[in-house]
Amino acid sequence: MLRSRRSNLAVPGSSPKMLEKAKGLAADQVFMDIEDAVAPLAKPDARKNIVAALNEGGYEGKVRSVRVNDWTTQWTYADVIEVVEGAGQNLDCIMLPKVQTAEQIVALDLLLTQLEKSNGFEVGRIGIEAQIENALGLINVDAIATASPRVETIIFGPADFMASINMKSLVVGEQPPGYDVGDAYHYILMRILMAARAHDKQAIDGPYLAIKDLEGYRRVAGRSAALGFDGKWVLHPDQVAAANEVFSPNQGDYDHAELILDAYDYYTSAAGGARGAVMLGDEMIDEASRKMALVVSAKGRAAGMARTTSFTPPEA
Ligand code: GLV
Ligand code: MG
Repeated sequence: MLRSRRSNLAVPGSSPKMLEKAKGLAADQVFMDIEDAVAPLAKPDARKNIVAALNEGGYEGKVRSVRVNDWTTQWTYADVIEVVEGAGQNLDCIMLPKVQTAEQIVALDLLLTQLEKSNGFEVGRIGIEAQIENALGLINVDAIATASPRVETIIFGPADFMASINMKSLVVGEQPPGYDVGDAYHYILMRILMAARAHDKQAIDGPYLAIKDLEGYRRVAGRSAALGFDGKWVLHPDQVAAANEVFSPNQGDYDHAELILDAYDYYTSAAGGARGAVMLGDEMIDEASRKMALVVSAKGRAAGMARTTSFTPPEA
């Protein structure tokens, strides 16, 4: 199932107020954090707040995810057990940060399976989101993507990634000073995107920390959207609308995609002459055009867009 994930709202589990506020925001996904946005001493309460918020409900229409701590800490197992035992039926995904190997995904998959069995939940329903945040994770990204059928997304974690490769910058989302010959993140973004597309997962871009700079957010989001990413994190309510817009097709492109699909469907049929390459206005369309149109159409439909034009077959 293609879940729309244009905007992925980060909410610290330590803040009941923000957990509540997230319900009213137009984000496609909410992820409740027990990891880096929550201080070690606040983690036990964060688990409880998250369970309470999920069970109270109000997140209808949004994907509900919980980011647990990574497997190198002492918290992961208790995060997963407490959240899934407490609110497993009101939860869609567990987000695993700093994934480095396929085994770390397998470990989470096994733990989730036991929890689902012992609590009488449907086995395999809870998905996994894998954050790639260091060199080892990136090198292993294909194995990580295929380590469990639960994996739904591959997420770029730029802040941890920059730190882990010793990149000389403190500004997440912007180019490192001194590097003026291209996009320093291009390889990482493309590598993640290739793994996602090769294995039928969603590719998600991480946070942009300068939350007051909406123009900067749009610029950086626009780059990963242009490459083919499905969505990006939002850290502040103001970034939600920007993400939803940047990761949706514009109306003209969406209409055009639907038109190509209808026209191609007609022309390849017996009634339309069973042709493989035809003119649509000034444009030649063929099977590859249909595939490109399918991408734009799927993103538009997932975003709930309505078409404003229709295809009329020519008079016979
Ligand atoms: C997100 O977790 C990041 O490290 O950028
Ligand atoms: Mg991180």
